[in-house]
Amino acid sequence: MNQPARILVVEDESIVAFNLQQRLSMLGYDVPAIAVSGQESIDLVSQMRPDLVLMDIHIQGDMDGIEVAAKLRETHAVPVIYLTAYSEDSTLERARRTRPYGYLLKPFSERELHATIQMAFERQRLENELNDSRRLLQQALDAASLGVMELDKTTTTITPSPRTADLIGWPHDQPLTLPDLLARVDATERDAIAAKLHHCLKDLRHFSEEFRVLAEGSTPRWIKIDAGHVSDQRVTGVVQDVSERKQSELRLKTLNESLEHLVTARTDQLHQSLKELEAFSYSVAHDLRAPVRAIIGLSEMLLQTQPTRFDQDGIDLVQRIAATGQRMRALIDALLHMARLNQVPMQLRLVDISGIAGEIASQLMESEPQRVAEIRISPKLEAMADPTLVRALLDNLMRNAWKFSAHSKITRIDVGAKTLGGETVFFVRDNGCGFDMASADRLFGPFQRLHREDEYTGTGIGLTIVQRIVMRHGGRVWAFSEPGLGAAFHFTLSA
Ligand SMILES: Nc1ncnc2c1ncn2[C@@H]1O[C@H](COP(=O)(O)OP(=O)(O)O)[C@@H](O)[C@H]1O
Ligand SMILES: [Mg+2]
Repeated sequence: MNQPARILVVEDESIVAFNLQQRLSMLGYDVPAIAVSGQESIDLVSQMRPDLVLMDIHIQGDMDGIEVAAKLRETHAVPVIYLTAYSEDSTLERARRTRPYGYLLKPFSERELHATIQMAFERQRLENELNDSRRLLQQALDAASLGVMELDKTTTTITPSPRTADLIGWPHDQPLTLPDLLARVDATERDAIAAKLHHCLKDLRHFSEEFRVLAEGSTPRWIKIDAGHVSDQRVTGVVQDVSERKQSELRLKTLNESLEHLVTARTDQLHQSLKELEAFSYSVAHDLRAPVRAIIGLSEMLLQTQPTRFDQDGIDLVQRIAATGQRMRALIDALLHMARLNQVPMQLRLVDISGIAGEIASQLMESEPQRVAEIRISPKLEAMADPTLVRALLDNLMRNAWKFSAHSKITRIDVGAKTLGGETVFFVRDNGCGFDMASADRLFGPFQRLHREDEYTGTGIGLTIVQRIVMRHGGRVWAFSEPGLGAAFHFTLSA
């Protein structure tokens, strides 16, 4: 202590007071004043703000020392030590209620006086610290709008903070018990919460639950209680209002549900229109067949039955009409083929992909026996899939590989599979003319062709069919290529 501690002495016997002042000075304390009556001491405390009061009980005036100390306790946080000759129980009991920092019986030694004063200062320091941390805690609780509560397990009495009482809609002045609290819990949750609470109390476990409380006259609220044991008998907890979060969770949930409904309804509508559209294009394609057949037939008839009516230019024109008609028929047939494949109901079974690929390979080789070709098919390629659709898929990919490698010296086609990230990826690879990757995203669109019709014939429907089939199986299809170095088509059959 840099400054000597300042002590107010309250003592009506001037000799005793003087003597005490001397002894205190020798001990290193400062005694700036001496009071003889209650009122005088209260005034002096207000003016001087001493660090400590040494209080005689029998003093002048209409208050005794104990009454003065009680008054000082209400207005000033100054520690008081009684110095008195009274030692009977009734006085001690009255003095005790004023929470003195010490009680010294006259006569006392210097050492006793010094020790008592030192202990009083130490206790005051601790109390100040305690008050500071209490204030800090309260600030934190207020800022977070948290309530606190304490439960006595034997009596089931709950002591709620005002905020806790407000949260559960309980009057501040009425005693609260555990059954009272449970009675406020929403009836649908009450039993479950009571059971959990019971377990926590029995096994001295932590309790952390959210539930709805219903109090008369106030809107229902969601609260959360986090509680733990501080001893076998006492449980303390923190209470918070989680209504806002709960409500947004609920709103989000209903929103999600209605969105899901909407999506399902829209998807159904979309499926329906898709079906109608498919049926429509099917019937259009189907009805176009007859006139196209007539155009082809008539132009051929014209050439056969009236060959003398045309010169060479006329014959060329009629032949081009017939050829265009045939091309149109091929397109229509491809469309019809695709529409039919779309309508096939899926029947999943274990499909022997190697076997099907082998059959297609034989057909290709037989179609052009003079062509030098090597088609390698990995053994035991299998998948859970629809056999008819998988055959159409392989047919399109392998026919493309065959077609676009027609100009290679030796045609090489590989059909195989690899595992990528736990997924089986099938591939059909060739050493043909390939294509420019810049156009890769067009490949699978209907009627899209990256090569000229006079170089490689086709309708541009094949890869569209491939993509539909793969998608119906929940898989993906993609391609790699470099012009002149061949192409590789990859696909999976289930996601
Ligand atoms: N193996 C391949 N090599 C090079 N280009 C290919 C290959 N497969 C497909 N393509 C390109 O993709 C286009 C679309 O293929 P596809 O839909 O099967 O139509 P089509 O075979 O009737 O031309 C082809 O016209 C071609 O340009
Ligand atoms: Mg094709």
